[in-house]
Amino acid sequence: TLAAAREAMASLIADVPDYPQPGVVFKDITPLLADHAGFSAVVEALADAGRDAEGNTVVTKVVGTEARGFLFAVPVAMALGVGFVPVRKPGKLPRECHSEDYALEYGTDTLQMHVDAVGPEDKVLMVDDVLATGGTLAATRRLIESCGAEVVGAAVLMELSFLPGRETLGAVDCLALEVF
Ligand code: PRP
Repeated sequence: TLAAAREAMASLIADVPDYPQPGVVFKDITPLLADHAGFSAVVEALADAGRDAEGNTVVTKVVGTEARGFLFAVPVAMALGVGFVPVRKPGKLPRECHSEDYALEYGTDTLQMHVDAVGPEDKVLMVDDVLATGGTLAATRRLIESCGAEVVGAAVLMELSFLPGRETLGAVDCLALEVF
């Protein structure tokens, strides 16, 4: 349940002050990953974004973005009984890729996905750990749509609501287990 996931996150995600820079409080998910019950609760709550009210899976693929996105997207795909598709930094995937640039605080970066990873028959759930500026999930959305697939929704552990993540992401339903 969402309540169990939120309880696990509250007790197992550690605040690390002044990392990676002074004034920033980093949310360290590693104690959560190390706790089977807590990790399971979070994965189940994220997976609900890919289910209907009766608990049936309504997506055909889960897409996750390296690196921390993989940690949650893979077990969510397994929980939903569908395949997983990786979105990676440039030069990591071996076959023909779509590429999308996205804005960083300083400069831009690029994400890639295999052109045949999803297709018009697919309904996709995007999973990541954090929705911050929304650049990562918005670029991931464009990659999926470049393949002709439909983005059904997104699910993240944490949303930083003082940043315009939802606005950047546009008309995609995004489940956030916790909002800061
Ligand atoms: C982090 C995080 C999200 C993204 C969110 O990834 O895992 O993917 O930033 O930020 P945004 O909404 O502003 O795009 P990061 O690029 O730090 O890479 P990592 O997962 O490899 O650590």
